[in-house]
Amino acid sequence: MMKSIILAAGKGTRMKSETPKVLHKIFDKTLVGYVVDAVNRTNLFDENFIIVGHQAEKVAEYVESNYSNTKTVLQSPQLGTGHAVSMVLPYLENYEGEVIILCGDTPLITETTLKEFINEHNLKHSDLTVMSAIFENPTNYGRIIRNEDGTLNSIVEEKDATDEEKKIKEVNAGIYCLNWGKIKSAFRQLKSNNAQGEYYLTDIIKWANEQELNVNAYILKDNTEIFGINSKTHLAEATKILNQRTLEKHLVNGVTIVDPASTWISPETEIEPDTIIYPSCYITGKNKIGKNCKIGPFAHLRGEVVLEDNVKVGNFVEVKKTTIKSNTNACHLSYLGDSEIGSNVNIGAGTITANYNPLTKVKSKTIIGDEVKIGSNSVLVAPVEISEGANVAALSVITKNISAWSLALTRAPLKVLEGWVNKVKNK
Ligand code: UD1
Ligand code: CA
Repeated sequence: MMKSIILAAGKGTRMKSETPKVLHKIFDKTLVGYVVDAVNRTNLFDENFIIVGHQAEKVAEYVESNYSNTKTVLQSPQLGTGHAVSMVLPYLENYEGEVIILCGDTPLITETTLKEFINEHNLKHSDLTVMSAIFENPTNYGRIIRNEDGTLNSIVEEKDATDEEKKIKEVNAGIYCLNWGKIKSAFRQLKSNNAQGEYYLTDIIKWANEQELNVNAYILKDNTEIFGINSKTHLAEATKILNQRTLEKHLVNGVTIVDPASTWISPETEIEPDTIIYPSCYITGKNKIGKNCKIGPFAHLRGEVVLEDNVKVGNFVEVKKTTIKSNTNACHLSYLGDSEIGSNVNIGAGTITANYNPLTKVKSKTIIGDEVKIGSNSVLVAPVEISEGANVAALSVITKNISAWSLALTRAPLKVLEGWVNKVKNK
């Protein structure tokens, strides 16, 4: 098994935020979470190290409470990317295998590319493989300098590059695979005599060539995979790219998406064929949607939502942490949270599961059996269970469990005052 090192100590000034850059979210998942997940999904790594610096405690707390195979290592002060990697030396003293280095702010990298990259590194018996990319506008990236025979020579940072070097369109994508046993001593020898006065990770290329090691580049196919986030504009762009990838995948799989331009679906949402997503839906977090469902227009699924087949979640319906079994409809204006809902249920317009007590901050569950019919504008005050086949009359407030096949109603009796309007008018 391999080790990964994820660089995330940088400041992220341009985010203009009190939240550390890598803890910003796309579809409710942090940027660094995307990177760690891509790494873990290759099943090639048993340990990840995240280098933290700015707001280290916040990042460390998040990482360590969410990822069991991932350690954070403090880099303070931050003296450059090479210095960042050297922080891991004490942890990998006796490790001789392969290490991959990536950045915590490039959430669009995929496990497929990582696998292919590592595979090529192994096939070539490479000691050091750099991921490169071809950019029409390479500004700000380190440039890949090749020898006349096409072999890799070195990487030159924008700020250190000559005008001639600045014209090179092949750039350093910032992802490296290295044989740790052979390369690790480079990290004790890096110098900071460059334009930025930093210890550059990129200098290991030159170092490895000097040691006559086997150094290669892998050219990335889809440049969006190394899209780095430095600002809120980038965050919005990355969200859009990720969304487009997700929509495309579902369209290819047979999901109907009426208006891709107004549809947002998180990458961790599974949808089966023949489901229709109507315009203006926002689907975030992890969800599972079955076959032949109808979602929206204007539906909001907030995560941990499981819909079986033939379920309708219609306009202005919000669903969170809820399972809905097959053939159930919630067509209009509802909030369904922390609920288990059976099959063949009808949730009337305006039904609310009152799942949250703001005084105790406790969230409670609503359980609705098969065949239940909930009348419009009802409030189900959780914790509560409405058993199989029960009916709840419109406008009821349900505060205790309802037994199977009964009718529950809290409605005030209807009064009709005959001729009342005319009496008032004629006064
Ligand atoms: C780096 C590469 C450049 C490449 C580009 C790709 C170097 C010297 N340059 O440049 O060739 O084209 O990435 O995006 O590596 N970080 C730390 N500690 C530090 C400094 C940085 O953890 O002391 C982290 C940052 O948080 C960031 C990553 O390293 O996640 C990259 O650092 P950044 O300063 O953005 O490097 P670039 O100048 O973009
Ligand atoms: Ca950068």
